[in-house]
Amino acid sequence: MKSLEIKKLMITIIFNLAIFTITLAQKHNIMILATGGTIAGVGQAGSTDTRYTAGKLPIDQLLNAVPDIHKLANVKGEQVAQIGSQAMNDEVWIKLVSRINELLGRKDVDGIVVTHGTDTQEETAYFLTLTVKSNKPVVLVGAMRSATALSADGPKNLYDAVAIAADPKSNGMGVLQAMNEKIYAARDVTKTNTTGLEAFGSSNFGPVGFIFNGKPDYYYSSTRKHTLRSEFSNERFTKLPKVDIVYGYANMTATAIDAFVSSGSKGIVMAGVGNGNLYPEAEEALKRAVAKGVVVVRSSRVFSGRTTIDSEVDDKALGFIASEDLNPQKARVLLQLALLKTTNRDKIQQYFFEY
Ligand code: SIN
Repeated sequence: MKSLEIKKLMITIIFNLAIFTITLAQKHNIMILATGGTIAGVGQAGSTDTRYTAGKLPIDQLLNAVPDIHKLANVKGEQVAQIGSQAMNDEVWIKLVSRINELLGRKDVDGIVVTHGTDTQEETAYFLTLTVKSNKPVVLVGAMRSATALSADGPKNLYDAVAIAADPKSNGMGVLQAMNEKIYAARDVTKTNTTGLEAFGSSNFGPVGFIFNGKPDYYYSSTRKHTLRSEFSNERFTKLPKVDIVYGYANMTATAIDAFVSSGSKGIVMAGVGNGNLYPEAEEALKRAVAKGVVVVRSSRVFSGRTTIDSEVDDKALGFIASEDLNPQKARVLLQLALLKTTNRDKIQQYFFEY
């Protein structure tokens, strides 16, 4: 080869390398933290059978199913847990938030996607939006069909979640949850369908945005405190207090409430009827709980609306707290975090107004 040709070849190689490096540098760096769930579930390949085992496939295999994801961002995966989210617990939450805060504190990480089962995804999302100490995007995603099912929804949901996490418009939105081309605020999202693809909703507020053509578009954002404005994001903890939920119904007995109190619950969330109303025996049992120092929050088993303070129940007089529009499972998360700071009823009620 003549020296001029060698020079030309060298220039071409250097030029292409420079373009490659610039492209790499322009793309955002997104970490995927995997926890299991149906998105990583395995059943009979190509099947319509709904039987499968959640949390089987490792994150690398989930990423292999979406090769175009690497065009959106520099994506890396890490396995934090490998469980169905019905088995989600405080230990995994604490591990997850510690890792997220560590990663988002780095300059070379721009956003996080958490793959997660759908059953308790709303609780993990709310826990994270209260405890993540960063403005950078954190997006929870799952699937309703296992990774091996005919027309699995996981790959598209994962692609969309990375598109959301890699988009600067998602900064400062708090933790988001995204599936089936809709984006919800962690605080407001809830699971609304046991098996359908349209499995999430927010009865009081609706989605904050949508995914169109692989890009997020936002219309609203939650005004309630989250992430950097949340005082729980400054909290360092290794354990969370035991808080339990009791479900209200006609002809209810005090058995469950009394049992939780004697088993050492620090807080009880009552999923009351209507506007958090209480069967008389339940009200008496909750009064006994308060007298023993247990913090009682009234929420509702009703899907939409608010549980308002001092309505049919005199919360002030009885020492109860009203959950506002938090459903029982979300109220439980806020109460766990609130109890790390105080047992004062008025202060905790204030948290329920602010978060
Ligand atoms: C789970 O929550 O892990 C099982 C169900 C699902 O992911 O949809």
